[in-house]
Amino acid sequence: MRVRRKVGILVSGRGSNLQALLDACADPAFPAEIVLVISNVAGAYALERAEKAGVATLTIPHKSYPDRAAFDAALDAALRAAAVEIVCLAGFMRLLTPEFTRAWAGRMLNIHPSLLPSFKGLHTHQRAIEAGVKLHGCTVHLVTPDLDDGPILVQKAVPVLLGDTPDTLAARVLEQEHQAYPEALRLLAEGRVTVTANRAEIA
Ligand code: GRF
Repeated sequence: MRVRRKVGILVSGRGSNLQALLDACADPAFPAEIVLVISNVAGAYALERAEKAGVATLTIPHKSYPDRAAFDAALDAALRAAAVEIVCLAGFMRLLTPEFTRAWAGRMLNIHPSLLPSFKGLHTHQRAIEAGVKLHGCTVHLVTPDLDDGPILVQKAVPVLLGDTPDTLAARVLEQEHQAYPEALRLLAEGRVTVTANRAEIA
């Protein structure tokens, strides 16, 4: 039997990308399995989704720690205790320390709702509309210490339509996010990603 890589997912909110990953991993032929979901927000809907899928959950409230380093150390310890090999950030709304991102370099993915390197940070859909771009989308990338930076594994584009609001555009992008994240996790779990000069090559 093929080895399935053990995945830990960090969330803060509704967890629709977590759901897409849970659904993908429900297939025993998928090369990864989710062993732990951690939220920094108690009661996040994402935790319910994990519980329904029979996946272990933990809440690690960032406010219980004196600083980012202590919070990240708690995350790191929980991930290691669960023998996690790959970390996925799925709507995790905390900045991570360079120490944490370095410890998981090459093994941590993030999904961002824009075609990076355009529109790093927040309010990406509104900014895309204001900029008048005709194509927008999402990116799954390896996490590096710089925010929304790092080698790109998968991107999906959608058209920006006349009359789009941030909400209508977000909904169109979100559908693509749910395709892109399992695709990227599969690539990484299958060991098909090599990074050279901040670029990911997919075998
Ligand atoms: C998604 O748009 C994701 O790209 C961004 O945060 C949002 C999380 O949504 N990083 P969900 O919690 O996965 O539904």
